[in-house]
Amino acid sequence: MTNFAVIGAQWGDEGKGKVVDILARRFDYVIRYQGGHNAGHSVVFQGERFALHVMPSGVFNEKAVNVIANGVVVDPFQLVKEIEGLRNRGVELTPDNLKISNRMHLILPYHGIIDRHREGVGSRKIGTTGRGIGPAYEWKAARRGLRMCDVFHPEYFKAAVAAELESLNNRFSEIEELRAWGLKEMMAKLQPVLDILKPHVVDSVELLSAARAEGASLLFEGAQATLLDIDFGTYPYVTSSNSCAVGISAGAGVPPSTVDEVVGICKAYTTRVGEGPFPTELHDETGEALRKAGFEFGTTTGRPRRCGWLDLVALNYTHQLNGFSTVAIMKLDVLDELPEVKVCKAYRLNGEEITHFPASPVDLNAVEPVYETLPGWQEPTTHIRTYEELPEKVKAYIDYIEKYVGCPIGLISVGPDREQTVIRDRRLKDD
Ligand code: IMP
Repeated sequence: MTNFAVIGAQWGDEGKGKVVDILARRFDYVIRYQGGHNAGHSVVFQGERFALHVMPSGVFNEKAVNVIANGVVVDPFQLVKEIEGLRNRGVELTPDNLKISNRMHLILPYHGIIDRHREGVGSRKIGTTGRGIGPAYEWKAARRGLRMCDVFHPEYFKAAVAAELESLNNRFSEIEELRAWGLKEMMAKLQPVLDILKPHVVDSVELLSAARAEGASLLFEGAQATLLDIDFGTYPYVTSSNSCAVGISAGAGVPPSTVDEVVGICKAYTTRVGEGPFPTELHDETGEALRKAGFEFGTTTGRPRRCGWLDLVALNYTHQLNGFSTVAIMKLDVLDELPEVKVCKAYRLNGEEITHFPASPVDLNAVEPVYETLPGWQEPTTHIRTYEELPEKVKAYIDYIEKYVGCPIGLISVGPDREQTVIRDRRLKDD
């Protein structure tokens, strides 16, 4: 079977949830392999909007098995809340359709406290979601983390939590909220939620290996996006995991050859939340119009998103990294009313035009975008379902992007609902 990955091509919030949801109908497994509940996927299903955080987007498809793999970091309280929230709206998650890796790291209450504390002090603010993601990955790398498999060994688990609390209270004695957590209280709060999750725990290496041997089809769902990748994003203003396709093998415990097709998800413009460089950011009324028309407020934190024009230098870079088989252009309809549409085709840095994406945040903050201005189509597209029906000016815009990046655009999204989608690439069609 053909295995797919869906990867954000910008700074996140591109609409991966919608594409995964469309695709998930024909996949046997939908796998999250990095990040945590910092992600916020909006899926509109039968007119209802669902916000998923750590849950794979295959939950609305009865056939799919959803896997939270080893590379994800999970706050058990939030995961249980998400399971219960879905159940209240008629989506039942059982040990058969939701599997959690025994090697997955836990975000414990102290990770969130440290994350929020760091964002509140000092000058190197990242603008994190404050959910403890960074500290949980730090703990993993420092070999101090606790994993789902540890939950099955209560004495070991409790002793490790006790050791962490003691060491944290020494290291971060200034954080009052941290001192408030005693071992007894921590264990009493954790136990019931961990007990709810236990029946879902599996060895996901075994599970996915067996699935592959049986010829099952796998869909790997990226969270955040390539420009937030810890190695390749706009470091240090990034998340703490490999959020581009390079992270799949390590984050899901599958051989690198597992993924056949990589679908890049890109908005028709650009947004970013949190701090960090953003070369095409608009601080004018066009930026405000994009925010309003695109309803650009974070699914997870509610923060207004920074908005700007589509950056093809960045898209080309993310294509180099991920090797997209096809790109999905999302939220095209947000541009419907604009008299002209700009795309960034180069950067000017120290008087020179460049077309590569600089590594340094100093350079990225200094670049000036060089734009190509294309005519706006100024007509509604939300009702359109086939490529042929799209206005000629939209086709010219799509054509420009395809030629620049050298990658076909296989899907164009013209509204939030599943149905509001133009699919050009047969591989993305539901079959
Ligand atoms: P963290 O992942 O909470 O540590 O935050 C690090 C950076 O990634 C911040 O700029 C966040 O706003 C950003 N970020 C994390 N998750 C998402 C997401 O799902 N969409 C967009 N930005 C995100």
